[in-house]
Amino acid sequence: MSIRKRYTGLIETYRDRLPVSESTRIISIGEGNTPLIQLQNIPRLIGKDVDIYVKFEGLNPTGSFKDRGMTMAVTKAVEEGSQAILCASTGNTSASAAAYAVRAGIKAFVLIPEGKIALGKLAQTLMYGAEIIQINGNFDVGMALVKQLADHAPVTIVNSINPYRLEGQKTAAFEIVDELGTAPDFHCLPVGNAGNISAYWKGYSEYARASENLKAVTDKRPVMCGYQAAGAAPFISGKMIDHPETIATAIRIGHPQSWDKAWNAQKESGGWFDAMTDEQILAAQKMLSQFEGIFCEPASATSLAGALQDIGAGKIPEGSSIVCTLTGNGLKDPDTAISQCKDTHPVTIDATLDAVKRAILDRM
Ligand code: F0G
Repeated sequence: MSIRKRYTGLIETYRDRLPVSESTRIISIGEGNTPLIQLQNIPRLIGKDVDIYVKFEGLNPTGSFKDRGMTMAVTKAVEEGSQAILCASTGNTSASAAAYAVRAGIKAFVLIPEGKIALGKLAQTLMYGAEIIQINGNFDVGMALVKQLADHAPVTIVNSINPYRLEGQKTAAFEIVDELGTAPDFHCLPVGNAGNISAYWKGYSEYARASENLKAVTDKRPVMCGYQAAGAAPFISGKMIDHPETIATAIRIGHPQSWDKAWNAQKESGGWFDAMTDEQILAAQKMLSQFEGIFCEPASATSLAGALQDIGAGKIPEGSSIVCTLTGNGLKDPDTAISQCKDTHPVTIDATLDAVKRAILDRM
């Protein structure tokens, strides 16, 4: 029997493509290596001949794709002698920063919009023991403050304006190409601050270039499709928005920091941005749960909502292979999930064999 090598995180796996040296102390919690799940029931349900895969980033250590960027950003912060990290967040970045700071033995300060982050994200950030600073302003306001604070306190910013974040996050594209043996035709992503779409494009592009000297398997790059929530869609209106609003609080962002990089990904790939209503987002989230057994958070389902719309319209043609990134785990936002299922409240019955038997037989 052969023993499979223990997986020790994405920096170890893609070390030759990341800015680390032999002496770098790597701060990892085993992030990356997330499953690329082929949808089986949804393509049949919509009656289209398409190959849809979801990259389920909700299975990272803190339940979101942010861990890919955070392992790299915190590794470099520690290498550079930093004692504290700082971020603004709609919840996932703060949870991830808090966890990696614990792992590194440094301090994490997180700025979050009061009352506007999902319960699971708050719970985990509290448990990791970060210094949580709630502000009566949205993510964009927090982000502007964080950028100013860097000049006033000895802290390293770990939002995606930190270039190491995108370095870590680009590895998701590597994993997809390594697994499929090629790039998909289309790659669909939810877009908030726009770091992730920029990181994927960087990853696909680096692999495509590496294929010239046979260090990677394909020179193909996907068409990049970025989907925003309709109430928080600066890429669709073409200008920043001051009061973004959506039930998908993770992407409740009006001033994306990676504005130019994301436009570049769209233009170079021949892709597009589009806006999904909250209803479309929640419907896609529910569909994934009810037909595929995959529970992601609302913002994450924006990628599938967009893909389904554009497959329906023929913009994504039949015969295509499509990857949708599911950025975060459904457990992060139990309130939104429960409120979506208010018509399907569990029954309560007597704890007797007879009553339980009847309850089951009635529902067969
Ligand atoms: N999906 C989820 C679940 C997110 O948490 C985020 C961003 C995005 C998508 C959008 O990714 O910003 O790279 O375009 N969350 C950040 C945070 C802003 O603070 O957790 P993006």
